[in-house]
Amino acid sequence: MPPETTPLIASQTVQPGEFRKIQSLTYQVAGIDLREGKEALVGARLNKRIRELGLKDVSSYLNLVEADRTGLELIALIDALTTNFTSFLREPQHFEFLRSVILPALATRASIRIWSAGCSTGEEPYSILFHLAQALGQAELAAVEILATDISTRALSAASAGVYPASRMKELPEAWRKRFFQRGVGGQDGMVRVREEWRSRIRFQRLNLMEEFTNVAVANVIFCRNVMIYFDKQTQQKLVRRFAERLEPGGWLLIGHSEGLMGMEHELSYVMPAVYRKPSGRKG
Ligand SMILES: C[S@@+](CC[C@H](N)C(=O)[O-])C[C@H]1O[C@@H](n2cnc3c(N)ncnc32)[C@H](O)[C@@H]1O
Repeated sequence: MPPETTPLIASQTVQPGEFRKIQSLTYQVAGIDLREGKEALVGARLNKRIRELGLKDVSSYLNLVEADRTGLELIALIDALTTNFTSFLREPQHFEFLRSVILPALATRASIRIWSAGCSTGEEPYSILFHLAQALGQAELAAVEILATDISTRALSAASAGVYPASRMKELPEAWRKRFFQRGVGGQDGMVRVREEWRSRIRFQRLNLMEEFTNVAVANVIFCRNVMIYFDKQTQQKLVRRFAERLEPGGWLLIGHSEGLMGMEHELSYVMPAVYRKPSGRKG
């Protein structure tokens, strides 16, 4: 069919058996718990990839995913199905807590390590970095390491590029816009980019939270916000314990405000909504 007569398909039909297969794949690989009723959403999200590959339907796409020994198409499938919604300064109480409580508590440390787990397109780790840059001097800032990880390669490449629509700058203080961003990105009107000197301060890395992460350095603060909502209770429970192991004694775990650790067994103490702390191990 010539392109001009190709019907505009906004979505793919997902048959019940195909949906079950996708549910099982996303759960096994990424821990993502796709509930019944999400068939239309899945069809819409897979549509672009199916059309890019010139395939005709979800069934032929799933055959391709299974036949692909490199595993790259499985990554593309997970990429297409992850929800990457985020924003600068999302849930601002956490940044206020970082500035007023965490930083003073860590002031005497030789180094500070912060991990943004499930960083999506980068707005979260950049918001962390910009707060630190405003609060700390050059020498103190040099001792800060920020690791930002996500399962989605698509989200990560946007994060490390640091290019955003200029309209998003309304979310940010004027001083931040001047200090951290440049305009006129590669001739693209209406886009801004995080300046290279700031982008290079964050280490972006693909990491699936369902896989081993014992090689991630023990952190003082872990942000894992609005990620666990996509997992079932059992997966959340395991992940919280593994995060606790990756925290320094006295370190903090910050989760999304719609998430909670109620009913889970872990060694962390509740500090305030969506903030937990690992005991310092010191008496008194
Ligand atoms: C809604 S975004 C949250 C972004 C940011 N933390 C925030 O609160 O704005 C959720 C992110 O979790 C990531 N994610 C989902 N499952 C994951 C997994 N198994 N391992 C790592 N990241 C995962 C998604 O790719 C997505 O970018």
